[in-house]
Amino acid sequence: MENLELEQVEKKVEEELSAVEDMNALQQTKANYLGKKGIIAQMMSNLKDLSIEARKELGMKSNLLKQSLERKFEEHRKFLEDKMIQKKLENERIDVTLPGVRFKCGTIHPLQKTIMDLEDLYIGMGYTVAEGPEIETDENCFEKLNLPKGHPARDMQDTFYIGPEWLLRSQTSPIQVRTMLAKEGKPIKIICPGKVYRRDADDATHSHQFMQCEGLVLGKDITMADLKGALLEMAKMMFGEDRKIRLRPSFFPFTEPSVEVDVSCAKCGGSGCAMCKNTGWIEILGAGMVNNNVLRMCGYDPNEIQGYAFGIGVERVTMLKYHIDDIRNFYINDVRFLNQFKEVK
Ligand code: DAH
Repeated sequence: MENLELEQVEKKVEEELSAVEDMNALQQTKANYLGKKGIIAQMMSNLKDLSIEARKELGMKSNLLKQSLERKFEEHRKFLEDKMIQKKLENERIDVTLPGVRFKCGTIHPLQKTIMDLEDLYIGMGYTVAEGPEIETDENCFEKLNLPKGHPARDMQDTFYIGPEWLLRSQTSPIQVRTMLAKEGKPIKIICPGKVYRRDADDATHSHQFMQCEGLVLGKDITMADLKGALLEMAKMMFGEDRKIRLRPSFFPFTEPSVEVDVSCAKCGGSGCAMCKNTGWIEILGAGMVNNNVLRMCGYDPNEIQGYAFGIGVERVTMLKYHIDDIRNFYINDVRFLNQFKEVK
């Protein structure tokens, strides 16, 4: 092997490297020259046939060549690596002047909004939120609320039975029953929002599934004046600060006395218009003082503790608040309807 040959090897490597564009090719080329069976290894093994002098000289030169090649391969590796990083940076460059992508964003459903507003208001007044199952026992939904089997008031809530003792709840009042039984005679201050079901034919004002938000407050010396205060605050929050309410006698089996509650018409302010059918008042809910029978059946002594309950129809107040004329709008999920509530705070 001559000096010339060694120089040629170095040149050849340089030439080949100039065409190497990626790491795999680099590995391959490096193996061809510096690998165990590569060209340099072969050169070294040929040395054994030479004289000692020539072996010494060529051995030294081959070693130098080997080191020089190693440097060249390393330099080229660095060069390729830099190029790759450069390319990556180029590709991933962010153009901050591009307009952003707008995400389509939904909105809180108006019924959910009403429930959140009611929860905010009543939690602020010291109530807690109680929930219960939508499949209830006849016992909790009717019996313990003073509606024994055969009671005519059951007809108004004729509902979906799953068996003789199980049904989809027709009112949220069974949550009151559950809470009373769990509290074993202690004071209570809750609201109970939730879905209810009745065997109603759907039309503009009826739905077989709708929502209620009930309230129950039991304690010493709770009176109807407290009830009136709790409902007046609600009417003001939902329909405006200058709203008034009035209580009219009514009947519910679970309250005695019972009342229907009207709010002064927000549209005409009470002077009479089409919305309030010229009466100046709009009915919004039922309420009353909890019936002694209910208290006793649920483990309370009416001589010690009494209180009030109310039941807000969530659809009803939402329809009045936002002037919605068909209850079915809440459930058919038409985005054109729902989009209108994006601005509602
Ligand atoms: N549960 C009644 C209904 O569905 C509404 C109601 C009225 C609830 C008076 C009450 C109440 O808690 O005191 O028609």
